[in-house]
Amino acid sequence: MNEHGERLWNLDDFLDATQGRPIGDMPESVDGISIDTRTLESGDAFFAIKGDQFDGHAFVTNAAGKQAALAVVSEDKLASLGSVSLPLIIVHDVLEAMEKLAVAARRRSKAKIIAITGSVGKTSTKEMLRTLLAHCGKVHASLASYNNHWGVPLTLSRLRADAEFGIFEIGMNHPGEIAPLVKMVRPHVAVITTIAEAHLGFFENVSEIAIAKGEIFTSMTKDGVALINRDIKQYNLLSKMAAKAGIKRIETFGAKRGASYWLKELTVSAECSNLQIQVDGKKMDLQLGIAGKHMAVNLMAALGAALLAGGEQEMVVDAVTGIGAVKGRGKSMVFGEGRKAITLIDESYNANPASMAASMQVLGMHGPTARGRRVAVLGDMLELGKSSKKLHKGLIKSIREAKIDRVWLVGKEISVLADELNAGELAGHFGSIEAIEEPFLKDLTPGDVIMIKASLGIRSGKLVTSVAKHLADR
Ligand SMILES: Nc1ncnc2c1ncn2[C@@H]1O[C@H](COP(=O)(O)OP(=O)(O)OP(=O)(O)O)[C@@H](O)[C@H]1O
Ligand SMILES: [Mg+2]
Repeated sequence: MNEHGERLWNLDDFLDATQGRPIGDMPESVDGISIDTRTLESGDAFFAIKGDQFDGHAFVTNAAGKQAALAVVSEDKLASLGSVSLPLIIVHDVLEAMEKLAVAARRRSKAKIIAITGSVGKTSTKEMLRTLLAHCGKVHASLASYNNHWGVPLTLSRLRADAEFGIFEIGMNHPGEIAPLVKMVRPHVAVITTIAEAHLGFFENVSEIAIAKGEIFTSMTKDGVALINRDIKQYNLLSKMAAKAGIKRIETFGAKRGASYWLKELTVSAECSNLQIQVDGKKMDLQLGIAGKHMAVNLMAALGAALLAGGEQEMVVDAVTGIGAVKGRGKSMVFGEGRKAITLIDESYNANPASMAASMQVLGMHGPTARGRRVAVLGDMLELGKSSKKLHKGLIKSIREAKIDRVWLVGKEISVLADELNAGELAGHFGSIEAIEEPFLKDLTPGDVIMIKASLGIRSGKLVTSVAKHLADR
């Protein structure tokens, strides 16, 4: 319920949208949408979606136990459910029903809608934008990285009628995935953060990746604005795609002179960045509390999107001070005090060549103290296909530039990097993140600065948690 007592969906609109057949004693409204009973809240509608590992139909009883308002289930699973103490809405296909609800949410919405895609930086930019717009109106935004075929309709179906801004992350691993998602979202502003070698295993080359991202321009509102990174090689390709899709207004952000949201000068340190920017001919000085040039460029994207969506300039600019790093994407923790403090940079969320380079650059800005060292735990970058070996070996360049003293390797793909490191630099190569824990904890030295980064599949977040616990318990 919002402060005016309005529910997310009243039953009539919900049934109209999903075209479902109600069975049982229906509630008047639902107050949330859930596809996972672990996070379901009382009053939610539970959509029994079939995922890669589980079928939601197996959890309908759990949903009832957690006081769901109702469950949306598929006709052909009905018999297998047995008796359920929950009102049911029967549909032909549950995911399709959620997509229809998403489309209805978009149709009724008066919010300015922003869609963000790109090879890296989507979540970082989305979270910055959420902060920048928070004082300008009611903001609805994707949770975590809910950017795929279920994450986008789930986020959209949760859009309240009174939201003033809607921020959507849209992702893909393959060509053709973005077009149907953006068709539901119909953004007023579409942002491309950057193009890089991510999921290269599913593409011929980086231009093909750009073309797949450019699908974001195919379903915008009539007055839609494209906001594209001016610094990337694929800028021309992307702006042509936007123009071809009928978009009349194309804006840019980046460090290149002439960008609409121009990062004119940047001074970086381990803790923050000082930016001199120029927007509409007006120069401004900003400080961003997240390290790294990549984050400063993300901020330019977020600023541009906030202003293009109608955010009031003064409020948006003032809100920059409230921006902080996101878990797993450069958030740092300091344990202890003085010269013996140990700094842990959590980059465990994911990794590809662009984000590896960016995070090592930040590690390089940190100066170890006492007998400390710059330490990196680097795990596999997955889904790089036939370029995998070359790109993993290539990490040596960033390691040297950042003057990293000690490198721990985890996973199969990254083993080739061991040959590039000399004996003093290589702390060891391990098959799993669990195997590294014991020797790694023993090796910790006062004054160390540690950065942990790998693709999600390596689960390097576990090591971050155990290192943090070990250091906090000392
Ligand atoms: N513009 C950028 N250039 C390079 N690296 C970046 C950039 N923005 C963020 N990163 C780094 O990339 C990683 C992922 O960032 P983020 O979660 O913002 O990206 P994403 O596009 O949402 O990823 P995903 O596709 O996994 O959802 C983090 O390590 C982050 O520090
Ligand atoms: Mg993300």
